[in-house]
Amino acid sequence: MTDKQLLTMAREASSKAYVPYSKFAVGAALECKGGKVFTGCNVENAALGSTICAERTACVKAVSEGFSEFLRIAIYAESEGYCLPCGACRQFLAEFDKNGDIEVLASRADGRYVSYRLRELLPHTFDF
Ligand code: THU
Repeated sequence: MTDKQLLTMAREASSKAYVPYSKFAVGAALECKGGKVFTGCNVENAALGSTICAERTACVKAVSEGFSEFLRIAIYAESEGYCLPCGACRQFLAEFDKNGDIEVLASRADGRYVSYRLRELLPHTFDF
């Protein structure tokens, strides 16, 4: 699967976002070892802190289906800037990044994207 294909899946997933409060739809597509992809969108809640980001939705879907080795995650939002994962999502994904090689593809409305290693975005991850 190419970066563009994964990003397209993230964009499609953003159409499912439940965002009555922020109106900011985010989609994620998480590629697992072996090639299976889980998508996710953000799901907001009237208790705003209970909102779940697109990246964590995808991650929880994968882990709950028995997939916990991840290669890449693509993120899409109709935003001017690149939609990078929030701090909570970085930490959440880092839980499953034991080798430090998960790649994060963050795109923006015009289709351009940037690529980072999760470890670059969250060095010195909390663990115990
Ligand atoms: N959001 C995500 O889905 N992923 C992120 O990494 C950052 C923020 C969502 C949460 C909320 O529904 C909306 O974007 C505005 O913060």
